[in-house]
Amino acid sequence: METWDAIRARRNVRSFDRRPIADADLERILEAGRRAPSSRNWQPWDFVVVTDRDQLQALSRVWQGAAHVADSAATIALILSTALEGRDHGIALYDLGQATANVQIAAADLGIGSGHAAVADQEMAREVLGLPQDRRAVYLIDLGYPADHPLAPLHKPDRRPLQDVAHRGRW
Ligand SMILES: Cc1cc2nc3c(=O)[nH]c(=O)nc-3n(C[C@H](O)[C@H](O)[C@H](O)COP(=O)(O)O)c2cc1C
Repeated sequence: METWDAIRARRNVRSFDRRPIADADLERILEAGRRAPSSRNWQPWDFVVVTDRDQLQALSRVWQGAAHVADSAATIALILSTALEGRDHGIALYDLGQATANVQIAAADLGIGSGHAAVADQEMAREVLGLPQDRRAVYLIDLGYPADHPLAPLHKPDRRPLQDVAHRGRW
């Protein structure tokens, strides 16, 4: 896909068919996350990628809005240090957002759908992912081929109009 098409085709996919993601595609998606910019290039993230069905099902229970993770072909857990606080924590979350966008656009480029899920139950996430005590899972990005219809540019996205969002020159 063209970049512009991938940006317009990305949508939260919460229902996946059971096709696996090829290793090379998953590698490229992870690489897109690794290449994301971050404040001072500190790269505060680690990624744990899960493809095992039992693990995915367990992971889908870390938050009531994470059920769709169970049927994904792969899920990437975005990990930060528990030591982060204040300004650094805010910046790290911004950086994770940039990594997330890279991952989702790279996936869309390959025709692979993606979704977000927050993590509420840290103890459960830590157990499923084998995280040390000084790390926590902040978000999950689940991946797979959409069960409904293939990704294609959305012509009427559910978004505030551009003239409301974009202020030109001054507010
Ligand atoms: C920070 C963040 C957290 C989100 N958490 C969840 C979640 O826990 N479960 C879920 O189903 N969707 C989650 N979403 C997806 C949003 O609901 C979705 O991106 C939004 O409704 C716009 O839809 P679209 O991504 O299809 O364009 C999250 C999105 C973001 C950016």
